Amino acid sequence: MTSRVDGPLKVTGRAEYGADHTFPGMAHGYVVLSTIAHGEIEAMDVTDAKSAPGVLGVYSPFDPLELRTPVSPFFGETWVPLQDKEVACYGQPIGFVVAETYEQARDAAMLVKVSYRTRPALTSLEDGLASAEDAPAARDGAPPSLEVLAPGVESIEDALAASPVVVEATYTTATQHHAAMEPHSAVAVWGPDGLTIHSGNQGSDLQAAELAGALDLKPSEVHAVNPFVGGAFGGKARTSAPAFLAAAAARVLDRPVKAALSREQVFTATAGRAATVQKIALGADHDGTLNALRHDSWCSTAADRSFVEPTSHGTSREWYATRNLAISQKMVPLHIPPTTFMRAPGEAPGSFALESAIDELAVALGMDPIELRLRNNSTAPPGKDLQWSSKHLDECFRVGAARFGWADRSPGGRTDGDWLVGLGTATAMFPALRFPATIEITLRPDDTAVVATSGADPGTGLLTVLSLVGAESLDISPDRVVPRLGDSALPSGGLSGGSTATASAGSAIMIAAAKAIDDLLTLAAAPGAPFDGMDVSYADGRVLAGDRTMTFGELLRALNRPSITVTGSSAPGEELTKHSFSSFGAQFCEVRVHRWTREIRVSRMLGVFDAGRIINPTAARSQIIGGMIWGVSAALHEGLEIEANGRFANGDLAGYLIPVNADIPEVGVHFVEYPDTLHNSVGAKGLGEIGTVGMAAAVANAVHNATGIRVRHIPIQIEDLLDQP
Ligand code: MOS
Repeated sequence: MTSRVDGPLKVTGRAEYGADHTFPGMAHGYVVLSTIAHGEIEAMDVTDAKSAPGVLGVYSPFDPLELRTPVSPFFGETWVPLQDKEVACYGQPIGFVVAETYEQARDAAMLVKVSYRTRPALTSLEDGLASAEDAPAARDGAPPSLEVLAPGVESIEDALAASPVVVEATYTTATQHHAAMEPHSAVAVWGPDGLTIHSGNQGSDLQAAELAGALDLKPSEVHAVNPFVGGAFGGKARTSAPAFLAAAAARVLDRPVKAALSREQVFTATAGRAATVQKIALGADHDGTLNALRHDSWCSTAADRSFVEPTSHGTSREWYATRNLAISQKMVPLHIPPTTFMRAPGEAPGSFALESAIDELAVALGMDPIELRLRNNSTAPPGKDLQWSSKHLDECFRVGAARFGWADRSPGGRTDGDWLVGLGTATAMFPALRFPATIEITLRPDDTAVVATSGADPGTGLLTVLSLVGAESLDISPDRVVPRLGDSALPSGGLSGGSTATASAGSAIMIAAAKAIDDLLTLAAAPGAPFDGMDVSYADGRVLAGDRTMTFGELLRALNRPSITVTGSSAPGEELTKHSFSSFGAQFCEVRVHRWTREIRVSRMLGVFDAGRIINPTAARSQIIGGMIWGVSAALHEGLEIEANGRFANGDLAGYLIPVNADIPEVGVHFVEYPDTLHNSVGAKGLGEIGTVGMAAAVANAVHNATGIRVRHIPIQIEDLLDQP
């Protein structure tokens, strides 16, 4: 078992998160938010705010901080606050008050009087469906609609009509928010070399690039430091409003500035997950062979079309073998806060719909839902020739079914006193991706090695991965590796997102380590060196030749060298032309619905995953547990209620429900471990996001098994189960 290298610092409170930083002369900023969903700011009366105690500056679209729209190499254009008078959602940052203390800034912010020219707002996804637009192509270039038909088939409708068994239904999922423990915040300090920013983020060099663009600086003039991040889940991929505002205000005021959003502000001044409407039709033969699959999706997006939740794309990318497939993906611009990546964007809500529909088909066929899934197990993404590099979904289901006692499930559930008990299952899939990454390795005379990359560890355990893969690649024990990340001054490690970081950084570590060893051996055998002219090799942290050995530290000391430093880079390449890559899993859960109160409790859960090689079993298990709990949370708890005026009625942790310990039973996690070295040399396929995929459907399917009631929306609430079927 490997503990997290950052664990002791975190549990003793010594890990410094962004807002923990304090500097002499530091001022505090408070963000002012809009109170309409759509319109134009007519005027902002800041007279009282400006003369309030301790106030140093009040910024607004009428007196803005200078910020340009940065174009990130990774994300494209990023919105920056206060640059115009347009209001596109309730709770949009429209002002920034800076004072000597946080309380003074907050008090003064309450004195800002805003008048608006209000325009009609569209805030309901249902109302907006009529004005849906085609989504743009996905990041990988996949088009917003796609039809793959068997020879001789004219349309997906024909394929459905020709299928003896058809199920067709509409599923909806709620607007969600990441609700990471650490609210978005930033501490900005200017010095002779430029800006230093302490702000939790998913990629320090990406954050530095966005800030440099916004502030018209060279990337090297921004130093982003975020070694500890209190949760991100996609919600800290892009630079936050407090970071832009604190940086710009600190420059104008020539003082360090700290800005932190309150918990309520996080819900609207950052970005969350889109709500979705998904229509699915499945056509099958009597033996369960899937003949046709149609998946049409609509997702909410902000008026700036900030993000598409690609639920249909997932269906075309990963799921089932079917002779005929049609997908479409639309977005519905609304006057709501921006949407963005959230753990398993696309696959999380998409799998609720698709895996519920598959369960409905199993019921219609009178077939076991696992058997139905395995009958249609794909060997390649639908319509593509590139086979999966490695797929052991069948084993995940077999192992899971045996461990979970699936054979005891009866189609009508069972009862236990006043509880109706049901079992549900679902498939989980998430593409295995990796991004370009560069790692720097420094061998030091004290026999330690520094393994460093800019990156970020938002709680996923990447820091420990650097230490474990670094140790393995250098053939030394992990306690001799000093891992470093979360610093834009280090070589670019890219984004901790898309379940990519272990595969991206791990591959680069192996390349860097091989180079470091090469350089070491060259030095060792150089003229005048201890192994002058000898045939040297390397093992166990040592240079060897005949019966002579020296550790790399001994050699560096003998040569009087302070260090050997190398960098190694890796990027996805040729493998993409040879195979398709995905992680897979089988989710199981048992729910108990109370016969009279209709209370829903999840009583058992098990997830069995094929995610390639598992680098750190402890961290891997905890990542998956977190994801599975999130799936339960999506199924039974989470959902933002949007009022007609665009306000989130429950945008705080009192009203936005997330599970507590009492909601979650023991969670079983099992890995079938097949290292996938076709994907990357480390063999890891990524498991950050897949844990949540499918779980909401498994819960809904279990509720159906227990009660006979099919709920086609999440979260499922007591009132959904009041009517007997
Ligand atoms: Mo994630 S949604 O890739 O942080």
